[in-house]
Amino acid sequence: MILGVVGAGTMGAGIAQLGCAAGLRTLLHDPLPDALETGEQRVRDGLARWVEKGRADASAADLLELAPQLDDLAPCELVIEAAPERAEIKRELFERLSAACGPDAVLATNTSSIPVTSLAGAAARPENVVGMHFFNPPPLMQLLEVIRADQTGDRALALAREAGEAMGKRVIVATDGPGFLVNRCGRPFYGESLRLLQERLATHEQIDRICRMGGGFRMGPFELMDLVGIDVGFAVAQSFDELSFGEPRWKPSPIQARMVAAGRLGRKTGRGYYDYSGEGAHRPDDPEPPQPGGGDGTLVTVVGEGPVADGLRERARAAGYELRDGGAAELVVDARANPTASVPSGAPVLALCAASSLAARGEPGAVGFHLLPPLAESKLVELTRAPGTQAFAAEAAEGFFARLGFHAEWVDDAPGLVLGRVVCQLVNEAWFAVGEGVGSEDDVDAGLVLGLAHPRGPFEWGGAIGLDHVVAVLDGLWSERHEERFRVAPALRRATFANALS
Ligand SMILES: NC(=O)c1ccc[n+]([C@@H]2O[C@H](COP(=O)([O-])OP(=O)(O)OC[C@H]3O[C@@H](n4cnc5c(N)ncnc54)[C@H](O)[C@@H]3O)[C@@H](O)[C@H]2O)c1
Repeated sequence: MILGVVGAGTMGAGIAQLGCAAGLRTLLHDPLPDALETGEQRVRDGLARWVEKGRADASAADLLELAPQLDDLAPCELVIEAAPERAEIKRELFERLSAACGPDAVLATNTSSIPVTSLAGAAARPENVVGMHFFNPPPLMQLLEVIRADQTGDRALALAREAGEAMGKRVIVATDGPGFLVNRCGRPFYGESLRLLQERLATHEQIDRICRMGGGFRMGPFELMDLVGIDVGFAVAQSFDELSFGEPRWKPSPIQARMVAAGRLGRKTGRGYYDYSGEGAHRPDDPEPPQPGGGDGTLVTVVGEGPVADGLRERARAAGYELRDGGAAELVVDARANPTASVPSGAPVLALCAASSLAARGEPGAVGFHLLPPLAESKLVELTRAPGTQAFAAEAAEGFFARLGFHAEWVDDAPGLVLGRVVCQLVNEAWFAVGEGVGSEDDVDAGLVLGLAHPRGPFEWGGAIGLDHVVAVLDGLWSERHEERFRVAPALRRATFANALS
C-alpha cells in the first residue's frame, strides 16, 4: 500500500512515522515548505529512536518521500489528512485529492470533531471517504478510531482498518456522530464533574482527588481540563451541543464560559482551576490511605448483597471486625443500593447513598457514604452528613473506614455522591452509544482505556458495580432533580430488567 499524509504537523508527522515503520511507502505533503521540512525531521528523528529501540527496521526511513505538491500524491492508495481542524480546509482538500488521486484511492480524515459525513460530501466519490482518528502522540497511543460516515463504503472501512492494524494499532470502529465513540463516551468525566462543582457538592480539588484515589484515574477531571485548555474543552462542549441540537447530557457548563471569559484557560495561561504561576506543584500529593487494622473484634453488621456489601464485609473482617448478621452490633452499615426500609438500630448507622441522597433516605442521625467497586482497588470513601447526623455517628464512620484502609472525604449530599455519579454517567453514556449503534461494547471499553487512559472501560465497570446499583444512582438523581440529563439509557434499562428476571 502507498500511503499519503497531508499536513506535516504534530499528527501528520506521527502518522507518517507509523506508515514508514509499518513498511509502507509514505508520501508526506504540506503546503508550507518550512512545515514540510520540520515535519520530515520529526519523522526521521522518531524513526531513528524506534530503530534504536528495535521497534522499526533501519530501512524504514528510506520509505519516506516528500510531496511538495498535492498532485504528487497521485499514486497513493490511502491518503490521511491531518490539516488544521477547519471544515472548509478539509472539504477543499477532499475535492482536490479526488482529482489528484486515482478513483479507488481511499481518503481519510484525522478530524477529532468535524462530522466525517459532512466532509465526505466534498469528495468526488464519498464512498471512499472514512475517518481515521489517531490520538496524540500517534506513535505512542495504541488506539485508532475508524469512523464510518453515512456514505463510507465497506472497502474504504476495510482499508482503513488494515492500515491501522499494520501500524500496530488496536482499531475500533465508530459510526459518525458527536465525538464519535471515544470522546462521546468520555464526556461525562468532564460534564458531570462540572455539574458537581456547580452544585457545590465538592470542590474541584476534592473531585480530582476522589477520582484519583477512589476511581483509579491517573488525573482528575479539573487538572485534565487545565492541561487540555479550558477554551478547547468549552469549544468541544459547544460543538456537542450544536451537533446534538441541545442534548441535555451534553450542555456546556456556565463555569467553563466564565473561566474562558476571565482568561483562565488552564496551564497555558498559568491559571485555570489550579494556579500554575508559582514554582511548586499545583496541588498537594494525595494522602496515603491509613493502614488497615484495629477492628479488635468490634461487632458490626453489614446489610445488603452485592459488590459493595461483600467488599466491605471482606475488608472489615480483614481489619479485625467481627461480623454479625443480626442481633446487637456496635455499628450498622447499610450497603443496599436499593433499600426498602431502614434498619432498626440503636447503634450508629452508615447508609449507602446510591438510590437517594441521605436527606431523602429519611434515616435520622445516620451518616451517608458511597464508594465504588472494585473495592479491593479503592483507597477512598466519600462521607456525607444531613442536618440530623449525630456527631458520634460521624466519628464512628470515620473510624470504621479508616480501619478498613480508606481515606475519607466529606462531601455534600446527593445520590451516588461524587465518584458514583461521574462513573454511573460514564456507564450510562456508553449504553446510550451502543444502543444507538455507535460502536460495540468491546470497542467502547478498549477506546476509553487506550484512548483516554481510564482505569477500566464503562462496560467492565458497570459489571463490577452491578447494573442495578448504576441504575439506582441515575434514577435517584432523576427523581431528586427531574433533569433529563439523568435519564437512564433505554438499552441499560432493558438490561437491568433482563437481569432481574434471570
Ligand atoms: N493535536 C491533537 O491532539 C490531535 C488529536 C487528534 C486529532 N487531531 C486532528 O489532527 C488534525 C491536525 O492537527 P495537528 O495538531 O497535527 O495540527 P498542526 O497545526 O500541528 O498541523 C497542521 C499542519 O497542516 C498544515 N496545513 C495548513 N494548511 C494546510 C492545507 N490547506 N493543506 C494541508 N496542510 C495544511 C500546517 O502547515 C501544519 O503543518 C486536526 O484535524 C486535529 O483536529 C489533533
